[in-house]
Amino acid sequence: MAETCIVVGAGVAAYGFANAIREAGYQGRVVLFGAESVAPYERPPLSKQFLTGKKDEDALLFQPVSFYEERSIELCLGTPVEEIDLQRRVVRTGDGSEHGFDQLVLATGARPNRLPVPGAELAGIFTLRSLADARALRAALAAAERVFVVGGGFIGCEVAASARLLGKQVALVETLPVLLGRVLGPEIGAAITRVHERQGVALYLGRRVVGIEGQERVERVVLDDGTALPCDLVVVGIGVQPALPAIVGELRIDDGVVVDATCAASVPGVWAAGDVARWWHPRVERFIRVEHYDNALEQGAAVAKAVAGQPEPYVPVPSFWSDQYDLTIQQYGYPVEWDEVVVRGDLDQPAFTAFYLKEGRIYGAVIVRRPREMRPARRLVEALAQVDRSLLADPNVDLRQLMS
Ligand code: NAI
Repeated sequence: MAETCIVVGAGVAAYGFANAIREAGYQGRVVLFGAESVAPYERPPLSKQFLTGKKDEDALLFQPVSFYEERSIELCLGTPVEEIDLQRRVVRTGDGSEHGFDQLVLATGARPNRLPVPGAELAGIFTLRSLADARALRAALAAAERVFVVGGGFIGCEVAASARLLGKQVALVETLPVLLGRVLGPEIGAAITRVHERQGVALYLGRRVVGIEGQERVERVVLDDGTALPCDLVVVGIGVQPALPAIVGELRIDDGVVVDATCAASVPGVWAAGDVARWWHPRVERFIRVEHYDNALEQGAAVAKAVAGQPEPYVPVPSFWSDQYDLTIQQYGYPVEWDEVVVRGDLDQPAFTAFYLKEGRIYGAVIVRRPREMRPARRLVEALAQVDRSLLADPNVDLRQLMS
């Protein structure tokens, strides 16, 4: 009898898997269980073109349902997996039924952190992760004038930009001294912070929310210095946690499902991809977990090959982009601590390429409005290149010349 591969999750990583599994030659039964009632869709537009009304729901699906049917992939939507029993090798879904597997792909993604303050349950407070979240936020934005954003990471910056594009008054609170500081660091984060300031976002940096007040719905947000800011709705983007159903049996979990370089978990025949996977990256010799779209797609595809019997080390240069106003922030690189940032171009305009170095090697690059430098910058990161800093910083030196 043919074996069965169950995919838990029907998001971006699951789509990456589904798109590659038949091409990889796998002939077993493939079943995708998704908690949401919609086929896998693109998440990046949710905080941008979907919120601003430039894209509608139909345009978000990766593929119509017929795509899965043609590949004999069973798409079970609105069917959350609630428990995985690794000893009996079955998953239990929300309706109480059990489904056996030979191979299991964990593509469960991440769930947003909740704001741990009084009033956080009032109406008018939103997180943004799923299409349903985005629908609700889009409808609420239409009726709101004053938008308050908690968190100056990706969700916070993109939602603030979208709300400004819609003509809303926007205030944003971030605990760090700059926006996007967690990923970009203080110097480059400051450049992005200035962009939002110029676009008219009222910023409360180095501050935190201590309470949200209102009668039936949110009316004001209170900061730790006592400032009370009136608002019509609140969007909370304060990071995510890897999401997993209950697990029976031993599975190595530590800030996500810990997997080896081929994305294999500590239990044979179990794999993980996307935001939930923390894998050993042989190039940088550490476990990393990446919470971005490109990785979810690519890691899903890598796991498809592994399930089909051709496991290979998964060694991408992780990357992401973020669109805010008329800016695209493009990043390549590994989530490691750096000890030096070398900038070429103008941080204030902004139009620059920044390189993140650790012990003299390039581990990351961020490119803003210098599109011709994307490809060579990516190659320098891929090579973990060691390059003369003065040449790297000189915008007149062609980066391609720096490749040895
Ligand atoms: P994030 O980790 O990017 O940013 C969270 C921010 O909230 C951090 O700057 C943190 O310092 C701040 N923060 C934490 N607690 C706070 C508090 N109590 N008050 C004020 N600020 C606080 O997470 P975010 O923005 O929620 O995004 C969720 C996930 O979605 C991330 O994994 C992100 O990578 C992903 N995403 C990626 C996008 C992209 O690649 N363009 C776009 C949107 C989301």
